[in-house]
Amino acid sequence: PAPGWSISADVVVVGSGVAGLTAALRCEAAGLRTVVVTKARLDDGSTRWAQGGVAAALGEGDTPEQHLDDTLVAGAGLCDEEAVRILVTEGPDAVRRLIETGAHFDESEEGDLALTREGGHHRRRIAHAGGDATGAEISRALVEAARARGVRAIENALVLDLLTDAGGRTAGVSLHVMGEGQHDGVGAVHAPAVVLATGGMGQVFSATTNPSVSTGDGVALALRAGAEVSDLEFVQFHPTVLFLGPDAEGQQPLVSEAVRGEGAHLVDADGVRFMVGQHELAELAPRDIVAKGILRRMLQQDAEHMFLDARHFGAEMWEHRFPTILASCRAHGIDPVTEPIPIAPAAHHASGGVRTDSRGRTTVPGLYACGEVACTGVHGANRLASNSLLEGLVYAERIAADIAATQAANGLHARVPEPVEQPDVPTHPLLAPEARFEIQRIMTDGAGVLRSAESLATAADQLQRLHDEARDALDENGKTAEPGVDTWEATNLLCVARVLVAAARLREETRGCHWREDHADRDDAAWRRHIVVRLNPDRT
Ligand code: SIN
Repeated sequence: PAPGWSISADVVVVGSGVAGLTAALRCEAAGLRTVVVTKARLDDGSTRWAQGGVAAALGEGDTPEQHLDDTLVAGAGLCDEEAVRILVTEGPDAVRRLIETGAHFDESEEGDLALTREGGHHRRRIAHAGGDATGAEISRALVEAARARGVRAIENALVLDLLTDAGGRTAGVSLHVMGEGQHDGVGAVHAPAVVLATGGMGQVFSATTNPSVSTGDGVALALRAGAEVSDLEFVQFHPTVLFLGPDAEGQQPLVSEAVRGEGAHLVDADGVRFMVGQHELAELAPRDIVAKGILRRMLQQDAEHMFLDARHFGAEMWEHRFPTILASCRAHGIDPVTEPIPIAPAAHHASGGVRTDSRGRTTVPGLYACGEVACTGVHGANRLASNSLLEGLVYAERIAADIAATQAANGLHARVPEPVEQPDVPTHPLLAPEARFEIQRIMTDGAGVLRSAESLATAADQLQRLHDEARDALDENGKTAEPGVDTWEATNLLCVARVLVAAARLREETRGCHWREDHADRDDAAWRRHIVVRLNPDRT
């Protein structure tokens, strides 16, 4: 549909997690007229669910070099070393600036930052807040700061597509706003710079730690806009997600790695610590290794889940250090003080995303990506635990600096970009909302934690069928489903699922969080490289 209203700005930030709000605050501070648009409320999204914390070399004796080494090892040969170096060297100051912005982190009795460990880290380097409520505190602080500094925000705004000018440069976004008064219905924010900070795509699978809004919107938008996307096959499955039954769907409660960082053990039904002897770090091996260890044991024992045993923490430590996890376990009838917690891996984090350079620029001029939606190169084939909040902070600051410098140099700051209207003819076959569940089932069966040529081929065929049905309906009626958040979400999920499966089929090896049953080994000769995808925007 054509936009019914429009406003203009110097920069529009899509998404309001750690990456989006940090970018917005820094852009605003640089004097740029900034508009944040977000699909639900400002504090929805993945950031507020983060438990473990933010990794940075802040502890005595720790150095960015050691953080770099751990990140490269976890990334299984596919990290961009320069991107990681930026992350780990700029990270400590970015965390300090977050504290200045108003986030309160837990402190030791001596008044230093309290730091914990997580998988793949050889040191205590994870700063946390409220025990295990780090994301909630970061979100609170950033939302408050954005409100206090008058950052303009449009909530309940689903971004549809990127607008470009005649030269192919970013000119803003079209969006569908629900119930926000003045800006209701389909409209546009015109701006020469757009920052995608839309988070992840965990909802492409049936069981995930991600909230329901994590539907790959930014990656789908970027693909439709002709931007390059990379490493989508590397979906990280978190090893310890509370097991609520084999058919549990949607967002599942996380049991943070920090619980293992403080000494919890992974055990099978007989109480055997099966990670001991599999890796020098045992339960604290990088996440892919632990997830595989759990899965292998489940397969060997024909079990639906394993257990995390932290009874030895005692009630006081549980209440003080992990109040969120304690409450969510108890809400599901499990008391971790007296019994082991049933856990199983579930989809958690997209290591890949929209490809960017070290300043957050995508391959479409004026379009930036930051946070989970982006592929800056810091995660490689497997993200190191707690590097994602840090990535959001560091790269958001870089993006704001780049936009400010570019607009100052080009004199774009003061002028409204030439808008290009959305075409009135629908070009995307929109899926019915129920398709979401079918996509999740297809992806969980065929492209989940354990993949094979056969399972991926089946998934690809089934996704193609969904696409063809929607395409045929579009051809016949000029219209498919009614546009709305749920139809766009299903459509975006299908778009990212198809690319994810195509990349996973191509990568005939096992590396990081991509696990192929039929190609069990890492193949550096053939596959120490990235799969980069760019769609032809004229085809859907
Ligand atoms: C966790 O608390 O285990 C999550 C940390 C992360 O995903 O980085």
